[in-house]
Amino acid sequence: MSRLAILFAASEMAPWVKTGGLGDVAAALPAALRRARHDIRVLIPAYPALHKAFPGATVLADLPALAPALPPARLLAAEADGLPLILLDCPELFARSGNPYLDALGHDWPDNAIRFGLLSRVAALLGQAGSPLGWQPDVVHVNDWQTALAPAWLHYEGGAASVVTVHNIAFQGTFAAGHLMALGLPEYAWRFDGVEYHGQLSFLKAGLQLATLISTVSPTYAGEIQHAHFGYGLAPLLRHRADALRGILNGVDTALWNPASDPTLAAPYAANRLAAKRENKRALQGEMGLEPAVDRPLFGIISRLTQQKGLDLVLTLGEGITQLPAQLAVLGSGDKAIEAGFSSLAASHPGQIAVRLGFDEALAHRIEAGADCFLMPSRFEPCGLNQMYSLRYGTPPIVRATGGLADTVVDASDATLADRTGNGFVIDEATPHALWLALERATRCWHKRKVWQRIQQNGMRRDFSWEHAAHDYVALYRDAIAAHG
Ligand code: ADP
Ligand code: GLC
Repeated sequence: MSRLAILFAASEMAPWVKTGGLGDVAAALPAALRRARHDIRVLIPAYPALHKAFPGATVLADLPALAPALPPARLLAAEADGLPLILLDCPELFARSGNPYLDALGHDWPDNAIRFGLLSRVAALLGQAGSPLGWQPDVVHVNDWQTALAPAWLHYEGGAASVVTVHNIAFQGTFAAGHLMALGLPEYAWRFDGVEYHGQLSFLKAGLQLATLISTVSPTYAGEIQHAHFGYGLAPLLRHRADALRGILNGVDTALWNPASDPTLAAPYAANRLAAKRENKRALQGEMGLEPAVDRPLFGIISRLTQQKGLDLVLTLGEGITQLPAQLAVLGSGDKAIEAGFSSLAASHPGQIAVRLGFDEALAHRIEAGADCFLMPSRFEPCGLNQMYSLRYGTPPIVRATGGLADTVVDASDATLADRTGNGFVIDEATPHALWLALERATRCWHKRKVWQRIQQNGMRRDFSWEHAAHDYVALYRDAIAAHG
């Protein structure tokens, strides 16, 4: 099969800038495509963390102002473990540290339409004949609303085939109508089947409407977003484009998330060496100030603290968790009310419930290894990576049956233990009662050592490597190129 030239554009990329799973995907999927010998290059804003990581980046091109509101910029070349990066350097828009979308108070940057308008415009330009790079991709792959406007220019002005991937349809990038001209989109794009959405400019709607093909990050979520409840207003459009929509499950970076070689752990372990996992529990209890109890399970949570993740259900159960009896270790940041809820829960149950507010990659690894069981009762979950990390770390997850959680976690029952598929606990309803029953059931199972070990091993044996997803993306790109003509 021929080698494809692919431009992959994203607004975050691990390990340099990451607010959630998109950052992980933007690092791992291009790397897997490169291992499959495709010519893939990643376009990403030159945030301070990237300047710091690549001080020797060389100038590829100077870009003039591409539209009335878009400042001039530069493209820099860097390489991450052999993967070519194209850094979009525009200090006026991107020289801001911390969360790439929010200011220090947690509000959207007021010029986000311009910042990600420029990123989208440049992604499109690199797929067009006027590209300053002397390199033409066969396909431009954009991710979430921050790059989803690129397919609009490719559609109206011509250029490569395009694919837009939805990582979370709740975030759409919707801005005042005046941005149409400011970003240099043609006037005739202002249509219900163009970039207009209820009188505003919607980046994500534009991408879903105008990209050659669409994907999202799990098969179940691909079905869900065609229904009003999950579609956040875009379900009718997705039903209309159902033939162009596919669900491809994310993978796991199996080198980074491997309990047998993870340098952040107190003790490495594997499916056939599970006893050493206990060392990690002891270490985590010590690190987080939990009592060194061995007679009760330790539940773990690592999450953005938002409505999406269903953690208010955990807060409602509150001290009930300690009475199971069980312990709880939480790492997260986000919604101030949820943060406060966990802080006060921990304050009233020292030694049994511990909370760290903030973003801490190494602690995330130690919680995956040290907890007995992972909680992820999301209301919706396009894919979810943490449940897959948990499965690999022998930390059976309790999840709600939605999106990628439904595609990866199999409820442990007599039947699924017999056929060796049962790897966690699944609830149907996002209610405190349903979650409580699952916590009780998981606690009972944990006390039956043989059963628990079977559940752990079933999860650890499953193959979540990126090679499968990369293969499906290549098929998607080829279909997009063929459909584009
Ligand atoms: P989402 O992208 O919706 O936040 P995912 O499960 O796909 O959910 O990905 C979340 C990623 O972010 C995982 O790699 C997880 O470990 C990481 N993460 C989330 N919150 C934190 C945190 N407070 N500290 C460290 N890592 C975190
Ligand atoms: C989003 C989703 C999450 C998914 C991630 C990567 O942030 O909320 O479910 O795993 O993107 O695709």
